Amino acid sequence: MSTRPAGAGSPNGGSGAKVTFETLARKKASGEHIVMVTAYDHPGARAAEVAGVDIVLVGDSAAMTVLGYDSTVSVTVDEMLMLTAAVRRGLATALLVGDLPFGSYEASDEQAVRTAQRFVKEGGVDAVKIERGGTTTQRARAIVAAGIPVMGHVGLTPQSVGALGGYRAQGRTAEAALRVAADARALEEAGCFALVFEAIPSDATAAIVPQLSVPVIGIGAGPSVDGQVLVFHDLLGIHEGHQARFVKRYAELGQATIDGIRAYADEVRSGAYPAPEHGYAMATGEAERLRAELGHKF
Ligand code: KIV
Repeated sequence: MSTRPAGAGSPNGGSGAKVTFETLARKKASGEHIVMVTAYDHPGARAAEVAGVDIVLVGDSAAMTVLGYDSTVSVTVDEMLMLTAAVRRGLATALLVGDLPFGSYEASDEQAVRTAQRFVKEGGVDAVKIERGGTTTQRARAIVAAGIPVMGHVGLTPQSVGALGGYRAQGRTAEAALRVAADARALEEAGCFALVFEAIPSDATAAIVPQLSVPVIGIGAGPSVDGQVLVFHDLLGIHEGHQARFVKRYAELGQATIDGIRAYADEVRSGAYPAPEHGYAMATGEAERLRAELGHKF
């Protein structure tokens, strides 16, 4: 199997160039939109790579999209690391960001640095992502000081969905939007190389983003950002259940998958599969010899 990214390259940085933190800063400065998508396994990573995205995030949304949990809080570091390492093996040029899961970085700077180091060593990430402002700002500073780039995440932060009162947009009043702005600024000052803005009213985003100098990647935050991120399973129509209003489906792979498996099942049951062309033939004369030998022996 080829490991070369067929067709990879030009969209994400020109002639298959590796995406770096400088690439992202340059794209922000020139107004070229940054494309980020999640992936959780090797085929997903290959698809994102060949499609030429800039950043691949192994999001803790993996908890729901591939592991069957109800929310992101259940996924463990070990589960995330297995998925992250698989994605790493599928990427050549895109920047790889790993989400530190709930409970793996909040307790202390030491815990945060240790977990981030595991993501670099065992998952092969270029950077890690952590959620919220507040005490997370100090964790971001500690991880950056340990030499590991950090992406911040503000607005709707699913790891604190209980405290936020559910999966709802954040920053709908001026006061709430000021809190988002303060968190974003604090994370930038702590050294984050980029920020995710999730489920923030478009007009709030438009007011806050010009005050920031790092790239802002939006998801449900409107157009006034430097790039967009969507969850792989949402954009490809794989995930069942609730769909956030910011999701646009670019394919219906969930239905296509069910249709494919159903057609296979029908053909197995009817005997239409396998057909002669799906089998192997013995070399000329060998079947006769085999039958004769079997006739002798049994
Ligand atoms: O876990 C995730 O997929 C995320 C993105 C939605 C930004 O954090």
